[in-house]
Amino acid sequence: MQEETLTHGEGLARVGSDRAAAIDAHADAATPAAAGFDQSNIKWNSLEGIDHVWYHVLKVDPEAKIVDLILKFAANERILLHRHHADYSTFIIQGELRLYDSEGELTEIRPTGSFVEKPAGGPPHSEGGGDVDCIGWFRNRGTDGMIYEILGPNMETLATLGLHDFNGLLEAQEPPVKPVTFE
Ligand SMILES: [Fe+2]
Repeated sequence: MQEETLTHGEGLARVGSDRAAAIDAHADAATPAAAGFDQSNIKWNSLEGIDHVWYHVLKVDPEAKIVDLILKFAANERILLHRHHADYSTFIIQGELRLYDSEGELTEIRPTGSFVEKPAGGPPHSEGGGDVDCIGWFRNRGTDGMIYEILGPNMETLATLGLHDFNGLLEAQEPPVKPVTFE
């Protein structure tokens, strides 16, 4: 068997090309298939008076001021107008999230796989699923106070939801599914 001796530079080049091949192979393996997200381990919850959306709180971290939750928006429906009072990000897992301004005009579509970061503030808006229910991971961060302000038709505040509310919802819901460990 012939041994190869690579210079440092050649070695790095080899590592780079091997890695590129590995990434390509992985890309092939991950060829997208139009399948819905398997929700069988998610126990959905809803809040009275807030229709067309279900939640499952994953984690509330008061120290880090982070609330992680999964939301499901009903297909072809819209939730109530609201404002965001925390910086947040969304990662869409199933379907597409459609956003509407306060006049009901479609302003943005976040497709499956899209990751979006938004600062707190911004205009009141509504959102909902596309032709299938939309499921996304939402992370709210940077505040341990109000996160969502739910608005009525005249922009009046109907309700607020903050970090401590989500902590209460987390305690009230069925616990998130845990990994199986072998230690
Ligand atoms: Fe929103």
